[in-house]
Amino acid sequence: MGKVKTLGDKRRFSATLVQQQQMNHDVYRMVLSAPEIAAMIKPGQFLQLKTGRLMDPLLRRPISIADADDGEGTLQLVYRVVGEGTKYLAGLQQGAEIDILGPLGNGFTLQGERPLIVGGGMGIAPLLYLVRALCPKPVDVLLAGREASELFWIKLFAERCQAVHVTTDDGSLGTKGNALALLPQLLAQGQYDMLYTCGPDPMMEAVAKEAAKHGVPCQVSLERYMACGIGACLSCSCGAKDGSRKKVCTDGPVFWAEEVML
Ligand SMILES: Cc1cc2nc3c(=O)[nH]c(=O)nc-3n(C[C@H](O)[C@H](O)[C@H](O)COP(=O)(O)OP(=O)(O)OC[C@H]3O[C@@H](n4cnc5c(N)ncnc54)[C@H](O)[C@@H]3O)c2cc1C
Ligand code: FES
Repeated sequence: MGKVKTLGDKRRFSATLVQQQQMNHDVYRMVLSAPEIAAMIKPGQFLQLKTGRLMDPLLRRPISIADADDGEGTLQLVYRVVGEGTKYLAGLQQGAEIDILGPLGNGFTLQGERPLIVGGGMGIAPLLYLVRALCPKPVDVLLAGREASELFWIKLFAERCQAVHVTTDDGSLGTKGNALALLPQLLAQGQYDMLYTCGPDPMMEAVAKEAAKHGVPCQVSLERYMACGIGACLSCSCGAKDGSRKKVCTDGPVFWAEEVML
């Protein structure tokens, strides 16, 4: 890893691309060598990546930590190619240096003895590292995708979780429907004392309401458009239930569900 420079309490560093793997038609998994960051980053935090050599695109792109291994000094990012910035990342070869700002934001509060994790779409990415951090607690996960090809995650979670439940919108894998097709019956078993979720807002709202019905505390990880990622521009602000505005990049991205949704 290149030299770490500090920007206030933020760190700007250069990470070396160790491996780039295509997971499905538009999703890639990147392994980076970044020992200092791997040693300090917490599940739910994110990085701002520079996705061009010069000033184009101008803004960094936020990507979650899908995994970190302190022993190996590596970080893993899993990202979907949706535009210019992520296309640039997908084109990088082994040995490339990436200019990164982080770790950013507040991650998950690790609490509870029997957690359930619910992830949807690319929101599943930060939850894999969360499972690592929760080990050796027995963790169950519910993964929701549009179709089977989105759920390449199953094998990765199965190595760490006690149970992996799956739903797909089109019924090509697991239970047909969205996460709510399975969640009520899982919560009805009464064994879970914490729920962590990340995915599309409508999914998280429904998950948070279901958790509240069963008296299970819930943490949600929000995704918003971000420009600076460090609390300076307000582009990521969202309304909180107490009437205040929260900056998702610095107050979150992880919140208690009642702060922003219930
Ligand atoms: C805290 C945080 C963590 C994230 N973690 C991941 C991750 O682990 N893996 C991953 O694949 N993506 C993640 N994202 C989303 C990722 O940042 C965007 O997909 C990326 O910035 C798109 O950049 P681009 O230049 O490729 O596309 P752009 O050209 O900027 O946009 C292409 C399309 O994607 C849409 N888009 C761009 N940014 C967002 C956004 N934040 N939310 C919703 N739609 C968006 C645009 O409206 C447009 O339609 C995260 C976002 C946040 C805020
Ligand atoms: S992205 Fe600038 S304040 Fe959050």
